[in-house]
Amino acid sequence: MLSNLIYISQAVYPFSNEELVNLARQSQQHNTDKDITGMLLYKNQSFMQLLEGQEADILELMAKIKKDQRHTRIRVLFFESVKNRSMPYWSMGFYYMDDLDDADIKRYEQYLQPTADFSGFEEEPGNAISLLKQFATDIHVQAIQEDAMS
Ligand SMILES: Cc1cc2nc3c(=O)[nH]c(=O)nc-3n(C[C@H](O)[C@H](O)[C@H](O)COP(=O)(O)O)c2cc1C
Repeated sequence: MLSNLIYISQAVYPFSNEELVNLARQSQQHNTDKDITGMLLYKNQSFMQLLEGQEADILELMAKIKKDQRHTRIRVLFFESVKNRSMPYWSMGFYYMDDLDDADIKRYEQYLQPTADFSGFEEEPGNAISLLKQFATDIHVQAIQEDAMS
């Protein structure tokens, strides 16, 4: 059954753009092997990740991600079966939102109120979807090169 899962979490230390790239690189091969697609966003020491794939594969990956010492306070916002993937093109698209310029920050602020990180999505999970959709539309997504070429 095709499913998608969205969670938010807190990084245990501030990630650099480079560290996020490394994390995406580490994830890519596994996700490609398991036909998992999705998106990983980082902002203000918090993560939001969308994972889409077969339910069993998502659960298996989530169990691994939950044990990862690089983040804590993992809160699942959505876990449901879906007909289609919303991010079919990325085995793990990602974006380091601390590098957004002022104009873009303003654009995404509406979804991020009242906090500067993703924690507000716990109360307003619909905003998480809105932000992901807006991102996909804007193609504000990076992917590592091998990924983009495959
Ligand atoms: C925020 C976050 C998101 C992650 N996303 C993925 C992912 O999508 N796919 C993946 O294979 N590993 C992901 N990881 C890494 C896993 O937790 C784990 O370190 C990695 O799969 C290597 O596992 P292994 O040591 O069993 O090979 C993520 C880690 C963090 C902190």
